[in-house]
Amino acid sequence: MNDIFKAVRISDHVWWVGAIDWNIRDFHGYMTKRGSTYNAYLILADKVTLMDTVRAPFRNEMIARIASVIDPGDIQYIVSNHSEMDHSGCLPEIIDAVRPEKIYTSVMGAKTLREIFHRDLPLIPLKDGESLSLGNMTLTFLETRMLHWPDSMFSYLAEEQVLFSQDAFGMHLASSQRFDGGMDPAVLRYEAATYFANILTPYAALITKLLARVAAAELQFKIIAPDHGPVWRKDIQGILTRYAEWAAQKPTRKAVVVYGTMWHSTEKMALAITEGLTAGGIEVKLMSMDTCHRSDVAYEILDAGALIAGSSTLNNNMLPGMADVLTYLKGLKPKNLLGAAFGSYGWSGEAPRQIQEVLSEMKVELVGDPIQTRHCPDQAVLDRCRDLGRLIAEKLHEPSLILPME
Ligand code: FEO
Repeated sequence: MNDIFKAVRISDHVWWVGAIDWNIRDFHGYMTKRGSTYNAYLILADKVTLMDTVRAPFRNEMIARIASVIDPGDIQYIVSNHSEMDHSGCLPEIIDAVRPEKIYTSVMGAKTLREIFHRDLPLIPLKDGESLSLGNMTLTFLETRMLHWPDSMFSYLAEEQVLFSQDAFGMHLASSQRFDGGMDPAVLRYEAATYFANILTPYAALITKLLARVAAAELQFKIIAPDHGPVWRKDIQGILTRYAEWAAQKPTRKAVVVYGTMWHSTEKMALAITEGLTAGGIEVKLMSMDTCHRSDVAYEILDAGALIAGSSTLNNNMLPGMADVLTYLKGLKPKNLLGAAFGSYGWSGEAPRQIQEVLSEMKVELVGDPIQTRHCPDQAVLDRCRDLGRLIAEKLHEPSLILPME
Protein backbone atom coordinates (compact mmCIF):
# COMPACT_ATOMS: atom_id res chain seq x y z
CA MET A 1 0.00 0.00 0.00
CA ASN A 2 2.66 2.49 1.07
CA ASP A 3 4.69 2.17 -2.11
CA ILE A 4 1.91 4.00 -3.96
CA PHE A 5 3.24 7.30 -2.55
CA LYS A 6 6.09 8.90 -4.49
CA ALA A 7 8.25 11.95 -3.90
CA VAL A 8 8.14 14.78 -6.45
CA ARG A 9 11.34 16.56 -7.46
CA ILE A 10 11.04 20.34 -7.19
CA SER A 11 14.68 21.26 -7.96
CA ASP A 12 17.96 19.40 -8.58
CA HIS A 13 18.37 18.21 -4.99
CA VAL A 14 15.02 19.02 -3.38
CA TRP A 15 12.01 16.70 -3.31
CA TRP A 16 8.46 17.24 -2.08
CA VAL A 17 7.68 14.46 0.41
CA GLY A 18 4.48 15.79 1.97
CA ALA A 19 0.94 14.48 2.24
CA ILE A 20 -2.36 15.37 0.60
CA ASP A 21 -5.40 15.74 2.86
CA TRP A 22 -8.29 15.53 0.42
CA ASN A 23 -10.94 15.48 3.13
CA ILE A 24 -10.21 18.20 5.67
CA ARG A 25 -12.97 20.80 5.68
CA ASP A 26 -12.34 22.75 8.88
CA PHE A 27 -9.14 24.40 10.09
CA HIS A 28 -10.02 25.96 13.46
CA GLY A 29 -13.15 27.55 12.05
CA TYR A 30 -11.76 28.26 8.57
CA MET A 31 -13.70 26.18 6.05
CA THR A 32 -11.25 24.44 3.73
CA LYS A 33 -13.54 23.58 0.84
CA ARG A 34 -10.79 22.14 -1.32
CA GLY A 35 -8.89 20.18 1.36
CA SER A 36 -5.20 20.85 1.98
CA THR A 37 -1.66 19.53 1.77
CA TYR A 38 1.02 19.32 4.44
CA ASN A 39 4.26 19.92 2.59
CA ALA A 40 7.55 18.47 3.77
CA TYR A 41 10.72 18.63 1.70
CA LEU A 42 13.79 16.48 1.46
CA ILE A 43 17.14 18.08 0.55
CA LEU A 44 19.56 15.52 -0.85
CA ALA A 45 22.68 17.42 0.20
CA ASP A 46 25.82 15.86 1.73
CA LYS A 47 23.84 16.16 4.97
CA VAL A 48 20.44 14.82 3.94
CA THR A 49 17.89 17.18 5.47
CA LEU A 50 14.15 16.90 6.06
CA MET A 51 12.39 20.27 6.05
CA ASP A 52 9.31 20.13 8.32
CA THR A 53 7.08 17.08 8.73
CA VAL A 54 3.31 16.49 8.39
CA ARG A 55 0.18 16.18 10.48
CA ALA A 56 0.39 13.05 12.66
CA PRO A 57 -2.12 10.81 10.78
CA PHE A 58 -0.16 11.37 7.56
CA ARG A 59 3.18 10.13 8.88
CA ASN A 60 3.16 6.93 6.84
CA GLU A 61 2.41 8.81 3.63
CA MET A 62 5.40 11.10 4.21
CA ILE A 63 7.71 8.21 5.10
CA ALA A 64 6.61 6.33 1.98
CA ARG A 65 7.38 9.35 -0.20
CA ILE A 66 10.80 9.72 1.45
CA ALA A 67 11.43 5.99 0.95
CA SER A 68 10.71 6.37 -2.77
CA VAL A 69 14.02 8.30 -3.11
CA ILE A 70 16.21 7.36 -0.09
CA ASP A 71 16.26 5.15 2.96
CA PRO A 72 14.58 7.34 5.65
CA GLY A 73 17.36 6.27 8.00
CA ASP A 74 19.77 8.31 5.85
CA ILE A 75 18.23 11.59 7.02
CA GLN A 76 20.89 13.40 9.04
CA TYR A 77 19.25 16.74 9.80
CA ILE A 78 15.66 17.78 10.43
CA VAL A 79 14.65 21.44 10.29
CA SER A 80 11.39 22.60 11.86
CA ASN A 81 10.38 25.94 10.35
CA HIS A 82 7.05 26.01 12.17
CA SER A 83 5.97 24.00 15.19
CA GLU A 84 2.19 24.05 14.67
CA MET A 85 1.01 20.45 14.73
CA ASP A 86 0.09 20.24 11.05
CA HIS A 87 3.86 20.44 10.47
CA SER A 88 5.25 18.86 13.62
CA GLY A 89 2.56 16.36 14.60
CA CYS A 90 4.69 13.34 13.78
CA LEU A 91 8.07 14.92 14.60
CA PRO A 92 8.77 12.81 17.73
CA GLU A 93 7.92 9.61 15.86
CA ILE A 94 10.10 10.62 12.92
CA ILE A 95 12.96 11.42 15.27
CA ASP A 96 12.57 8.00 16.89
CA ALA A 97 12.43 6.26 13.51
CA VAL A 98 15.25 8.17 11.79
CA ARG A 99 17.55 9.08 14.67
CA PRO A 100 18.92 12.17 12.90
CA GLU A 101 22.25 13.67 13.94
CA LYS A 102 20.72 17.09 14.55
CA ILE A 103 17.34 18.83 14.70
CA TYR A 104 17.23 22.54 14.06
CA THR A 105 14.53 25.08 14.77
CA SER A 106 14.19 28.71 15.84
CA VAL A 107 14.76 29.78 19.44
CA MET A 108 11.00 30.05 19.96
CA GLY A 109 10.51 26.82 18.02
CA ALA A 110 12.64 24.91 20.55
CA LYS A 111 10.54 26.31 23.38
CA THR A 112 7.24 25.62 21.63
CA LEU A 113 8.08 22.07 20.56
CA ARG A 114 9.07 21.20 24.11
CA GLU A 115 5.77 22.64 25.37
CA ILE A 116 3.84 20.63 22.79
CA PHE A 117 5.52 17.26 23.19
CA HIS A 118 6.88 17.41 26.76
CA ARG A 119 9.87 15.39 25.66
CA ASP A 120 13.53 16.18 25.90
CA LEU A 121 13.92 16.55 22.14
CA PRO A 122 17.53 17.27 21.05
CA LEU A 123 16.68 20.59 19.45
CA ILE A 124 19.32 23.09 18.33
CA PRO A 125 18.00 26.67 18.22
CA LEU A 126 19.03 28.87 15.32
CA LYS A 127 19.36 32.64 15.36
CA ASP A 128 17.95 35.01 12.78
CA GLY A 129 20.33 35.17 9.82
CA GLU A 130 22.34 32.12 10.92
CA SER A 131 23.58 29.73 8.24
CA LEU A 132 23.91 25.96 8.41
CA SER A 133 26.27 23.99 6.19
CA LEU A 134 24.83 20.87 4.64
CA GLY A 135 28.26 20.05 3.20
CA ASN A 136 27.82 20.95 -0.45
CA MET A 137 24.94 23.36 0.23
CA THR A 138 23.96 25.98 2.78
CA LEU A 139 20.70 26.84 4.49
CA THR A 140 20.19 30.33 5.85
CA PHE A 141 17.43 31.05 8.35
CA LEU A 142 15.20 34.09 8.61
CA GLU A 143 13.06 34.55 11.70
CA THR A 144 9.49 35.47 10.83
CA ARG A 145 8.05 35.79 14.35
CA MET A 146 4.25 35.93 14.48
CA LEU A 147 3.91 34.89 10.87
CA HIS A 148 1.92 33.40 12.13
CA TRP A 149 3.29 31.84 15.35
CA PRO A 150 6.15 33.13 17.52
CA ASP A 151 8.37 30.27 16.34
CA SER A 152 7.92 30.75 12.59
CA MET A 153 10.96 31.03 10.34
CA PHE A 154 11.93 30.75 6.68
CA SER A 155 14.84 28.69 5.37
CA TYR A 156 16.70 29.60 2.20
CA LEU A 157 18.75 27.17 0.13
CA ALA A 158 21.04 29.45 -1.83
CA GLU A 159 22.55 26.90 -4.24
CA GLU A 160 19.13 26.04 -5.67
CA GLN A 161 17.42 29.34 -4.91
CA VAL A 162 14.63 27.72 -2.94
CA LEU A 163 12.80 29.63 -0.18
CA PHE A 164 11.05 27.34 2.30
CA SER A 165 8.39 29.68 3.61
CA GLN A 166 6.30 27.46 5.96
CA ASP A 167 2.71 28.80 6.07
CA ALA A 168 3.47 32.03 4.20
CA PHE A 169 2.46 32.00 0.52
CA GLY A 170 0.55 28.79 1.18
CA MET A 171 -3.08 27.84 0.70
CA HIS A 172 -5.44 25.06 1.65
CA LEU A 173 -5.78 23.27 -1.66
CA ALA A 174 -5.57 19.51 -2.17
CA SER A 175 -4.48 18.67 -5.69
CA SER A 176 -2.60 16.08 -7.68
CA GLN A 177 -0.61 19.03 -9.12
CA ARG A 178 2.46 20.11 -7.15
CA PHE A 179 3.34 23.32 -8.98
CA ASP A 180 1.44 26.56 -9.49
CA GLY A 181 2.06 26.41 -13.24
CA GLY A 182 -0.22 23.40 -13.60
CA MET A 183 -3.19 24.98 -11.83
CA ASP A 184 -6.01 27.38 -12.62
CA PRO A 185 -4.71 30.89 -11.77
CA ALA A 186 -8.17 32.00 -10.59
CA VAL A 187 -8.34 29.13 -8.10
CA LEU A 188 -4.81 29.89 -6.90
CA ARG A 189 -5.60 33.56 -6.41
CA TYR A 190 -8.85 32.78 -4.59
CA GLU A 191 -7.37 30.15 -2.27
CA ALA A 192 -4.23 32.19 -1.53
CA ALA A 193 -6.42 35.21 -0.71
CA THR A 194 -8.73 33.09 1.45
CA TYR A 195 -5.73 31.73 3.33
CA PHE A 196 -4.30 35.20 3.85
CA ALA A 197 -7.68 36.56 4.97
CA ASN A 198 -8.35 33.79 7.46
CA ILE A 199 -4.86 33.27 8.87
CA LEU A 200 -2.55 36.18 8.19
CA THR A 201 -4.71 39.32 8.37
CA PRO A 202 -3.86 40.00 12.05
CA TYR A 203 -0.17 40.12 11.09
CA ALA A 204 -0.51 42.22 7.94
CA ALA A 205 1.83 44.96 9.16
CA LEU A 206 4.52 42.37 9.92
CA ILE A 207 4.14 40.95 6.42
CA THR A 208 4.78 44.35 4.91
CA LYS A 209 8.00 44.57 6.95
CA LEU A 210 8.99 41.01 6.07
CA LEU A 211 8.57 41.63 2.35
CA ALA A 212 10.80 44.68 2.68
CA ARG A 213 13.41 42.61 4.56
CA VAL A 214 13.36 39.91 1.91
CA ALA A 215 13.74 42.54 -0.82
CA ALA A 216 16.59 44.26 1.05
CA ALA A 217 18.42 40.93 1.47
CA GLU A 218 18.29 40.61 -2.33
CA LEU A 219 17.58 36.91 -2.06
CA GLN A 220 17.18 35.34 -5.46
CA PHE A 221 14.61 32.59 -5.57
CA LYS A 222 13.39 30.45 -8.38
CA ILE A 223 11.10 28.48 -6.10
CA ILE A 224 8.95 29.29 -3.08
CA ALA A 225 8.13 26.10 -1.23
CA PRO A 226 5.37 26.71 1.33
CA ASP A 227 3.96 24.21 3.83
CA HIS A 228 0.49 24.11 2.21
CA GLY A 229 -0.69 23.99 -1.37
CA PRO A 230 1.37 24.27 -4.55
CA VAL A 231 5.06 25.04 -4.90
CA TRP A 232 5.46 28.45 -6.57
CA ARG A 233 7.64 28.20 -9.63
CA LYS A 234 5.85 30.10 -12.39
CA ASP A 235 4.22 33.14 -10.80
CA ILE A 236 6.54 34.00 -7.90
CA GLN A 237 6.35 37.73 -8.57
CA GLY A 238 2.55 37.47 -8.70
CA ILE A 239 2.19 35.95 -5.23
CA LEU A 240 4.72 38.45 -3.78
CA THR A 241 2.79 41.34 -5.33
CA ARG A 242 -0.54 40.05 -4.05
CA TYR A 243 0.85 39.62 -0.54
CA ALA A 244 2.05 43.21 -0.60
CA GLU A 245 -1.43 44.35 -1.70
CA TRP A 246 -3.33 42.27 0.85
CA ALA A 247 -0.96 43.29 3.64
CA ALA A 248 -1.51 46.97 2.82
CA GLN A 249 -5.25 46.52 3.54
CA LYS A 250 -6.16 49.43 1.31
CA PRO A 251 -9.94 49.90 1.33
CA THR A 252 -11.69 49.61 -2.01
CA ARG A 253 -15.07 50.65 -3.35
CA LYS A 254 -16.62 47.49 -2.06
CA ALA A 255 -18.92 46.91 0.92
CA VAL A 256 -19.82 43.74 2.79
CA VAL A 257 -23.33 43.68 4.26
CA VAL A 258 -23.59 40.76 6.65
CA TYR A 259 -26.74 39.95 8.56
CA GLY A 260 -28.82 37.46 10.53
CA THR A 261 -32.59 37.59 10.31
CA MET A 262 -35.51 35.81 12.03
CA TRP A 263 -38.58 36.81 9.99
CA HIS A 264 -36.91 38.70 7.12
CA SER A 265 -37.29 42.17 8.63
CA THR A 266 -33.56 42.64 9.18
CA GLU A 267 -33.09 41.13 5.73
CA LYS A 268 -35.31 43.82 4.19
CA MET A 269 -33.16 46.45 5.89
CA ALA A 270 -30.02 44.76 4.54
CA LEU A 271 -31.48 44.82 1.04
CA ALA A 272 -32.34 48.52 1.33
CA ILE A 273 -28.79 49.33 2.48
CA THR A 274 -27.47 47.26 -0.42
CA GLU A 275 -29.62 49.20 -2.88
CA GLY A 276 -28.29 52.48 -1.51
CA LEU A 277 -24.69 51.30 -1.84
CA THR A 278 -25.32 49.99 -5.34
CA ALA A 279 -26.99 53.23 -6.43
CA GLY A 280 -23.88 54.97 -5.13
CA GLY A 281 -21.65 52.91 -7.43
CA ILE A 282 -20.27 50.51 -4.83
CA GLU A 283 -19.75 46.78 -5.32
CA VAL A 284 -21.68 44.96 -2.59
CA LYS A 285 -21.44 41.47 -1.14
CA LEU A 286 -24.68 40.73 0.71
CA MET A 287 -24.10 37.80 3.03
CA SER A 288 -26.74 36.08 5.14
CA MET A 289 -25.25 34.08 7.99
CA ASP A 290 -27.92 31.46 7.30
CA THR A 291 -26.15 30.60 4.07
CA CYS A 292 -22.60 32.01 4.23
CA HIS A 293 -19.62 30.75 6.17
CA ARG A 294 -17.51 32.97 8.41
CA SER A 295 -14.39 32.27 6.36
CA ASP A 296 -16.14 33.46 3.19
CA VAL A 297 -16.99 36.70 4.97
CA ALA A 298 -13.32 37.04 5.98
CA TYR A 299 -12.33 36.58 2.33
CA GLU A 300 -14.71 39.32 1.21
CA ILE A 301 -13.51 41.70 3.93
CA LEU A 302 -9.90 41.38 2.73
CA ASP A 303 -10.33 44.10 0.10
CA ALA A 304 -13.51 45.79 1.36
CA GLY A 305 -13.92 49.40 2.39
CA ALA A 306 -16.99 48.89 4.57
CA LEU A 307 -18.50 46.33 6.90
CA ILE A 308 -22.20 46.86 7.63
CA ALA A 309 -23.68 44.34 10.03
CA GLY A 310 -27.24 43.67 11.17
CA SER A 311 -29.13 41.26 13.36
CA SER A 312 -32.54 40.59 14.76
CA THR A 313 -32.63 40.50 18.56
CA LEU A 314 -33.11 37.05 20.07
CA ASN A 315 -33.36 36.72 23.86
CA ASN A 316 -31.63 40.06 24.40
CA ASN A 317 -28.73 39.17 22.09
CA MET A 318 -27.74 39.21 18.45
CA LEU A 319 -28.40 35.97 16.58
CA PRO A 320 -25.80 33.23 17.15
CA GLY A 321 -24.59 33.33 13.54
CA MET A 322 -23.81 37.03 13.87
CA ALA A 323 -22.02 36.57 17.21
CA ASP A 324 -19.98 33.85 15.51
CA VAL A 325 -18.89 35.87 12.49
CA LEU A 326 -18.23 39.07 14.44
CA THR A 327 -16.10 37.22 17.01
CA TYR A 328 -14.14 35.68 14.14
CA LEU A 329 -13.70 38.98 12.28
CA LYS A 330 -12.72 40.82 15.46
CA GLY A 331 -9.89 38.33 15.98
CA LEU A 332 -8.66 38.90 12.44
CA LYS A 333 -8.26 42.64 13.10
CA PRO A 334 -9.08 43.96 9.63
CA LYS A 335 -8.13 47.61 9.12
CA ASN A 336 -9.43 50.69 7.33
CA LEU A 337 -13.15 49.88 7.34
CA LEU A 338 -16.20 52.10 7.50
CA GLY A 339 -19.22 50.50 9.12
CA ALA A 340 -22.67 50.65 10.61
CA ALA A 341 -25.13 48.46 12.52
CA PHE A 342 -28.83 47.77 11.99
CA GLY A 343 -31.59 45.33 12.89
CA SER A 344 -35.21 44.75 13.80
CA TYR A 345 -36.58 43.58 17.13
CA GLY A 346 -39.80 42.75 18.91
CA TRP A 347 -39.50 44.34 22.35
CA SER A 348 -35.99 44.70 23.82
CA GLY A 349 -33.77 45.37 20.75
CA GLU A 350 -30.22 44.99 22.04
CA ALA A 351 -28.61 43.48 18.94
CA PRO A 352 -27.76 46.60 16.84
CA ARG A 353 -26.08 48.29 19.82
CA GLN A 354 -24.15 45.11 20.57
CA ILE A 355 -22.99 44.99 16.96
CA GLN A 356 -22.01 48.64 17.10
CA GLU A 357 -19.90 47.90 20.19
CA VAL A 358 -18.08 45.08 18.41
CA LEU A 359 -17.47 47.30 15.38
CA SER A 360 -16.07 49.99 17.70
CA GLU A 361 -13.75 47.46 19.31
CA MET A 362 -12.62 46.54 15.80
CA LYS A 363 -11.80 50.22 15.22
CA VAL A 364 -14.29 50.37 12.36
CA GLU A 365 -15.13 54.01 11.56
CA LEU A 366 -18.84 54.16 12.35
CA VAL A 367 -21.18 56.04 10.04
CA GLY A 368 -24.07 57.21 12.21
CA ASP A 369 -26.00 55.47 14.96
CA PRO A 370 -27.52 52.00 14.51
CA ILE A 371 -30.77 51.86 12.54
CA GLN A 372 -33.34 49.76 14.34
CA THR A 373 -37.04 49.13 14.06
CA ARG A 374 -39.72 47.22 15.94
CA HIS A 375 -40.96 44.18 14.06
CA CYS A 376 -41.25 44.92 10.32
CA PRO A 377 -39.61 47.99 8.76
CA ASP A 378 -41.99 50.54 7.22
CA GLN A 379 -41.11 52.67 4.21
CA ALA A 380 -39.56 55.39 6.37
CA VAL A 381 -37.15 52.88 7.94
CA LEU A 382 -36.29 51.37 4.57
CA ASP A 383 -35.61 54.88 3.24
CA ARG A 384 -33.23 55.48 6.16
CA CYS A 385 -31.45 52.21 5.35
CA ARG A 386 -31.14 53.18 1.70
CA ASP A 387 -29.84 56.62 2.71
CA LEU A 388 -27.26 54.95 4.95
CA GLY A 389 -26.08 52.94 1.97
CA ARG A 390 -25.85 56.12 -0.14
CA LEU A 391 -23.91 57.91 2.60
CA ILE A 392 -21.38 55.11 2.97
CA ALA A 393 -21.08 54.96 -0.83
CA GLU A 394 -20.20 58.66 -0.89
CA LYS A 395 -17.51 58.10 1.73
CA LEU A 396 -16.12 55.18 -0.24
CA HIS A 397 -15.73 57.39 -3.30
CA GLU A 398 -12.67 59.17 -2.08
CA PRO A 399 -9.94 59.32 -4.71
CA SER A 400 -7.47 57.34 -2.60
CA LEU A 401 -9.59 54.20 -2.79
CA ILE A 402 -8.72 51.49 -5.30
CA LEU A 403 -10.80 49.02 -7.22
CA PRO A 404 -11.87 45.69 -5.68
CA MET A 405 -10.13 42.40 -6.41
CA GLU A 406 -11.22 40.72 -9.63
FE1 FEO B 1 0.12 25.23 8.66
FE2 FEO B 1 0.48 27.39 11.15
O1 FEO B 1 0.38 25.74 10.40
